[in-house]
Amino acid sequence: SGIERLGDMIAEARTIVPFTGAGISTECGIPDFRSPGGIWTRNRPIPFDEFVASQSARDESWRRRFAMEEVFAAAKPGRGHRALASLYRAGKVPAVITQNIDNLHQASGFAPKHVIELHGNTTYARCIGCGQDYPLDWVKRRFDGDGAAPNCTACDEPVKTATISFGQMMPDEEMQRATALSQACDLFIAIGSSLVVWPAAGFPMMAKRAGARLVIINREPTEQDDIADLVIHHDIGETLGPFVGN
Ligand code: OAD
Ligand code: ZN
Repeated sequence: SGIERLGDMIAEARTIVPFTGAGISTECGIPDFRSPGGIWTRNRPIPFDEFVASQSARDESWRRRFAMEEVFAAAKPGRGHRALASLYRAGKVPAVITQNIDNLHQASGFAPKHVIELHGNTTYARCIGCGQDYPLDWVKRRFDGDGAAPNCTACDEPVKTATISFGQMMPDEEMQRATALSQACDLFIAIGSSLVVWPAAGFPMMAKRAGARLVIINREPTEQDDIADLVIHHDIGETLGPFVGN
C-alpha cells in the first residue's frame, strides 16, 4: 500500500524535508483555503497594496483575524504535525518548510529556527514600516478603543499580522533556507497543499530536480502529482498517524 511504501522511503532516506500546507491543520479545526468551506470560498483575499492603501481594508483584515482567534488559540498539533516532530527528534528531518501561519509545527516540538515559515505567522503582529513586532492583544485593545486598526507607535505605519499577503514580498532568508533544504534532501514530502501558490509551490519540483524522491500526500489531486514518485490521496492524520513516535 501507499503507507507501506512511504514507510520504506522514510526508512531509506537520510535527510527528509517535509513541506506543509493548510491540509495538515484541518484536523486541528483550522479550515484550509480552497476546499469546500475553505477561507477563500468565503472571503476574497485582501491584497497587500489594498491593506497599505486603505484603512477600511485594514479594519476588515483585523476583523477577520479576530473572528478566527478562538480557532487559532484552541488548536493543538495534529497527527501529521506529531509524526513530523517524531522524525525531527530522530534526526531525520533537519527542518520543516511550511506555508502555514498557525504556529503548530513549533507547538509540536520543532525549534522555532527549524520551522521555515514562507508565509509568516498569524500569532503575532508586525509593523509593515519598521518591522516592530506587537502582540495580538495590543492590536485588539487599540482596535476596540479606537474602532480602527492601529498604526505603529514608533513609525506610524500600519500594523499587520506577521503574515505574507498576496502581492507582498516573500521573506528573503526563508526563501534561501528553503532552497538550500530542498536541494540537499533525499526525500521531500509535500503534505496538505494544493500546490497552486507560487513561489512556494516551486520547492517540490526544485527538490525533485536536485535528485530527491518526491512524495505528495493530499486528499485531492494536486497540480504536481505527475512529477511525484509516490502520491497518496488519503487523509493526512490517517497516513502519518503510524509515524507518530516518542
Ligand atoms: P489549499 O486550501 O489550497 O490546499 C489544501 C489541500 O489540503 C487541499 O487540496 C485539500 O484537499 C487538502 N486537505 C485538507 N485537509 C486534508 C486532510 N485532512 N487530509 C488530506 N488532505 C487534506 O491550502 P495551501 O495549499 O496550504 O497563502 O494554500 C497555499 C497558500 O494559499 C496559503 O499558504 C495561503 C493561501 O492563499 C497566502 O495567503 C499567501
Ligand atoms: Zn513601525
